[in-house]
Amino acid sequence: HAQARYTFVVEETPYTRLCNDNTILTVNGQFPGPTLYVNKGDTIIVDVINNANYNITLHWHGVSQPRNPWSDGPEWITQCPIQPGANFTQTIIFSNEEGTLWWHAHSDWARATVHGIVVIYPENGNSYPFPKPDVEVPIILGEWWKSNIYDVYDESLRTGGDPNISDAYMINGQPGDLYPCSSPGTFMLNVDYGLTYLLRIINAVVQDIHFFAVANHSLTVVGSDASYTKPFTSDYITISPGQTIDVLLYADQKPDYYYMAAKTYASVFNASFDNTTTTAIIQYNGNYTPSSTPSFPNLPFYNDTNASVNFTGRLRSLADVNHPVDVPTNITHEFFYTLSVNAFPCPNSSCAGINGTRLSSSVNNISFVYPSIDILEAYYNSINGVFGTQFPDFPPLVFNYTAQNLPLEFEIPRRATEVRVLDYNSTIELVFQGTNLLAGADHPMHLHGFSFYVVGWGLGNFDKDKDPLNYNLVDPPLQNTIAVPINGWTTIRFKANNPGVWFMHCHLDRHMSWGMNTVFIVRNGNASNARLLPPPSMPPC
Ligand code: C2O
Ligand code: CU
Repeated sequence: HAQARYTFVVEETPYTRLCNDNTILTVNGQFPGPTLYVNKGDTIIVDVINNANYNITLHWHGVSQPRNPWSDGPEWITQCPIQPGANFTQTIIFSNEEGTLWWHAHSDWARATVHGIVVIYPENGNSYPFPKPDVEVPIILGEWWKSNIYDVYDESLRTGGDPNISDAYMINGQPGDLYPCSSPGTFMLNVDYGLTYLLRIINAVVQDIHFFAVANHSLTVVGSDASYTKPFTSDYITISPGQTIDVLLYADQKPDYYYMAAKTYASVFNASFDNTTTTAIIQYNGNYTPSSTPSFPNLPFYNDTNASVNFTGRLRSLADVNHPVDVPTNITHEFFYTLSVNAFPCPNSSCAGINGTRLSSSVNNISFVYPSIDILEAYYNSINGVFGTQFPDFPPLVFNYTAQNLPLEFEIPRRATEVRVLDYNSTIELVFQGTNLLAGADHPMHLHGFSFYVVGWGLGNFDKDKDPLNYNLVDPPLQNTIAVPINGWTTIRFKANNPGVWFMHCHLDRHMSWGMNTVFIVRNGNASNARLLPPPSMPPC
């Protein structure tokens, strides 16, 4: 297997969008950042050099990093941040995944501009489980802020309210011509009639799930989160922050110009809602007279929860001889984790959240607090007092999760750094239950270190007697990020076969910053495996 080495210099770079000059954090001056191409089975080395004035860490989203949590990247979980002027060499092991993933900053909200695609080809000699596309096209959904993203972040934490929204969504770094002062840069995909295009789509947006569609062209979904899916055709896709979806697009329509477009799916109207639409253009090559304006795709309405969950519910693993499913069936641990947006009282009701409270969020009513030494180092070196190991298996209070207007005592979470320790090879079933404490929301939950099988989901309260009867143990999709529907539930299963310290959190960054996070520590099953040793120089705390 190849062992390539890359240098990623994090730096502040001038960029202009919407006629607004700004300085943003980039890797190697590129925005979106550099694309990495690897084959399944490769290991790469990335020398991260921090030439910016901010602390930084980089994460390889969806890469399981077997026995190698040291290079996973979330700040205060597996490492301390790389300080300005410092550097850190990360080793990334692509052992299980195949398809599309991405890398992004995992410190504050730096991932808003510090992100890029990872394309993972099959091992040499293997091919895709679908006819080889003629052309592959990365599509990154991102955002432009006229202000500095650190100011947006700081202000929201200081006031305790919802963060300001971005000024535009973008496709491949360009807002598209529906935004003022943006048309010259609109991303254009020139296609030849008759060819097949593989779009590798990544949602790198900070706070929103998106709908995406292409006018007059249906999309054939063939993969998600670097796992192949049974092909199915849809007029639109729903894609969560963190998630990747691979689709085939057949250039089989009348030669013309067509819009591709993406906009927010927002189940509730809140301060982070943005009704604007980002566009790019598909242009057929050849001699023809184009329509005066390109046709526009039908995107579901912004709050169409059925459109959102129906799409996600169609994802299925291939489950064939070459891509068998391996869903754990002997479950050793059952967990039930509630996901809540809560409120903290503020002195004199002086904060910008609802009724003068400070917005907060929690898992099983614990709002995660980052420690000041990373949990991996504390665990490895047995440093006491950094984290507790009493994360509850179930919420402390049982109630009607999706009812509204519950008493305030349900809403005030405990702030703590509690983790759950798992024995090596234990088999986990975890039900995520969204609550309606302050407000319901869809929560794209992401687990580091593993992909998990999504065996069931539904709207409303989980019914422990009935719902498990409908679990799909035959061809459930294998994901690293799954949107738990608003006031609904989702059940995942995975085997704790990857020793290390692994973060799990909502991939809406405001919810992450408010505490919708937790950590699994998976014990070492084989002490002789050297991978668990830290590399020679971890960034100091
Ligand atoms: Cu995409 Cu914890 O991250
Ligand atoms: Cu969330």
